[in-house]
Amino acid sequence: MAASELAKDIESPPKAKLPGELKYIQYQHSLEAQYLPAIRALISKDLSEPYSIYVYRYFLCQWGHLCYLALHPTDSSLIGVVICKLEMHASHSPPTLRGYIAMLAVSAAYRGQGVATALVKMAIDAMSERNADEIVLETEETNIPAMRLYERLGFLRSKKLHRYYLNGNSAYRLVLLLRPADTDIAANLALDDATPP
Ligand SMILES: CC(C)(COP(=O)(O)OP(=O)(O)OC[C@H]1O[C@@H](n2cnc3c(N)ncnc32)[C@H](O)[C@@H]1OP(=O)(O)O)[C@@H](O)C(=O)NCCC(=O)NCCS
Repeated sequence: MAASELAKDIESPPKAKLPGELKYIQYQHSLEAQYLPAIRALISKDLSEPYSIYVYRYFLCQWGHLCYLALHPTDSSLIGVVICKLEMHASHSPPTLRGYIAMLAVSAAYRGQGVATALVKMAIDAMSERNADEIVLETEETNIPAMRLYERLGFLRSKKLHRYYLNGNSAYRLVLLLRPADTDIAANLALDDATPP
């Protein structure tokens, strides 16, 4: 197969109709052996940053209750994942409880059917129930599907991070204010530094 055809194949995999009701489950440590290899494979396929297994364990061991998997209803294979954390952000005055969406990916064959939207909504609800003041993330400025998804869910662009990624691409920091009445939070966000996580 010519290289150009191969590239076309990689960019546009055949779309698969969602197989009925997907199973959405919260991550727990007992699932590590079954799903961590698939989680790493799914995320590393598209994201520009190479993460070691310790990065995955950093999130999943401490905040597995904020991470969700979308599974095929019959064979339970991994279709999508969202990985988050929730921490006090002490540099704000007063300190804010900040949720962070670290990784999000859906298998290419199942994109455009609401899987990522469902995963992100679950993560938002889980962080909101734990009294998060805000949820932040960074995404490449050229990642149109991700930008559209997050902005559709109410995230706002709080800062442009020039040449943020190892590949030299710039990013936007997006923020979802869960207590929009608190204008101090919005003001503080603009003062954040741009250090990658
Ligand atoms: C970004 C990414 C996670 C989006 O996943 P996805 O499952 O395709 O996202 P969704 O289906 O929820 O939303 C995408 C589109 O489907 C549409 N959609 C939502 N629910 C739908 C449904 N039930 N049926 C059909 N379409 C639906 C949405 O309107 C959206 O379209 P729009 O963005 O044009 O408005 C996916 O492209 C991906 O894994 N990319 C590589 C990794 C990546 O970039 N991660 C983000 C890093 S920050």
